Amino acid sequence: MNRITVIGAGNVGATCANVIAHKELAKEVVIVDIKEGLAEGKALDIWQTSAINNFNTRVVGSTNDYSKTKDSEIIVITSGLPRKPGMSRDDLIKTNAGIVKDVTEKAIKYSPNAIIIVVSNPLDVMSYAAFLASKRPSNKVFGMAGILDTARYKAFLATALDVSPLDIQAMLLGGHGDTMVPLPRYTTVSGIPLKELLAEEEIEKIVDRTRKGGGELVNLMGTSAWYAPGAAAAQMVEAIVKDQNRVFPVCTYLNGEYGIKDIYLGVPVKLGKNGIEEIIEIKLDKEESKLLQESANSVKTVMTVLDDMKMF
Ligand code: NAI
Ligand code: 2OP
Repeated sequence: MNRITVIGAGNVGATCANVIAHKELAKEVVIVDIKEGLAEGKALDIWQTSAINNFNTRVVGSTNDYSKTKDSEIIVITSGLPRKPGMSRDDLIKTNAGIVKDVTEKAIKYSPNAIIIVVSNPLDVMSYAAFLASKRPSNKVFGMAGILDTARYKAFLATALDVSPLDIQAMLLGGHGDTMVPLPRYTTVSGIPLKELLAEEEIEKIVDRTRKGGGELVNLMGTSAWYAPGAAAAQMVEAIVKDQNRVFPVCTYLNGEYGIKDIYLGVPVKLGKNGIEEIIEIKLDKEESKLLQESANSVKTVMTVLDDMKMF
């Protein structure tokens, strides 16, 4: 039996479970939520699309009963408050750290060998919290942000260049916040360097819009995004389940890579059946290194809030 658990039946969790089911990435997807009936309802609704969308993956919901998640291979954590207009992701830490710790401990009890993908914000620090709560090796606990942020960057570029987003290759580093570091130097359109296709100031505008991409959607919708975040988390599940060794930016524990130690931060990794198979260190120029360091410093500041909470 292969089972995947998604914790949180809200916007992102339900979307992620829906994509996992559509792609038949497991025999069963279990959705767990604290709110009575919500996970059962969303699971039933998704399962009722099976005959329309042609999939066999069973979708099951549970209100806080983790025994139903037993022996999950992957646990995706989306439980927690989303942002409202005017809030930064970091404003969420006080509430979400407790939620992430609690659900991680409950889930890992039933699935001690699971790989954990964290989505809850503030992402980099919540990934660290899940790592501490689960006591799993760091290559088995990591966060989703880079796939989403590069997807936004690719979407903006595809619109500006009027090309298919499928032909854009891009890499992005750093924390999931306004200090993230999109890398135009490592961006191509079917191998053609971006700088040959788009003026410097246009690229700068797109980089800036990408950094603030989450906030743009919060301002439009009054809450944060879910279609792209849910699909991005499901793409990580797919890379693991199919042992694809996909190269993605993933929020991962750094132990000296890029000269950064003891924080979770987005960097390129190889993602396969064991989780993070390898952290890839790309060469950065002076400016890129400086921006990455600034992003690391901003994550460290939020880490001190978690440390001060003395939860671990
Ligand atoms: P939502 O409010 O729609 O769903 C959150 C769900 O978590 C709710 O159904 C709630 O009942 C549940 N929940 C709360 N405490 C729980 C607990 N102890 N156990 C089980 N379930 C619990 O929020 P949405 O939009 O799904 O966002 C979820 C999280 O993901 C937020 O923290 C948001 O900021 C974050 N996010 C992260 C992204 C990323 O790129 N890493 C992108 C988008 C959202
Ligand atoms: C996003 O980037 C708010 O992290 C959430 O959409």
